[in-house]
Amino acid sequence: MKQPSDMEPPDQPAFCQGQISQVLLCPEQIAARVAELGEQITRDYAGRELTVMGVMNGACVFLSDLLRHLDLPIRVDFVAVHSYGSGTKSSGQLEMVKGPTCPLCGEQVLLVEDIIDTGWTISWLRQQLEKQGAEVRICSLLDKPERRETQVQVEYLGFEVPNVFVVGYGIDFAHHYRNLPYVAVLKPEAYEVEKS
Ligand code: IMP
Ligand code: MG
Repeated sequence: MKQPSDMEPPDQPAFCQGQISQVLLCPEQIAARVAELGEQITRDYAGRELTVMGVMNGACVFLSDLLRHLDLPIRVDFVAVHSYGSGTKSSGQLEMVKGPTCPLCGEQVLLVEDIIDTGWTISWLRQQLEKQGAEVRICSLLDKPERRETQVQVEYLGFEVPNVFVVGYGIDFAHHYRNLPYVAVLKPEAYEVEKS
């Protein structure tokens, strides 16, 4: 099996224009962990119906893989929050761009996120869904605990990552790189250009 350290920058697709510095999580590692999470969630919600609520757009790839490991009756819905723009830091101001379409009162909701950074987005979203009467748990592919500014309980976590800016497997920088099959570190030059 190809290890992340084997995936030197020359392996990266042409659309990355050499902006990837390192592969953090290879497709095989991600697939194995997603399967484990699916099995754990299936066990925990056995006998109940679950609404899987993806946080657009970053959770799209993770959510679609995770769904196929859930052996439960499920509904799928999405929310979209504006907080990040095209930079690398949360603006701190949150706005619900798209709310849930299904009624949530009394429902078990699994909020599926790509990455938790400061924690503001997911804790605000949890509050919004709880206000609608949902019982909410959080499932995030990645967590950057060093950057946490508000405490969040993450019931299901894929991987902890260091304090670096990552892209791929649904996660973007300025709407790009979501289609990479792995999670990679973006070279600082790639986003520092934006700041100047
Ligand atoms: P938080 O509110 O600071 O926790 O921000 C979470 C959101 O920021 C995630 O949903 C991502 O969209 C985005 N984000 C945080 N870290 C990264 C990263 O390393 N790469 C890409 N997006 C990130
Ligand atoms: Mg996001």
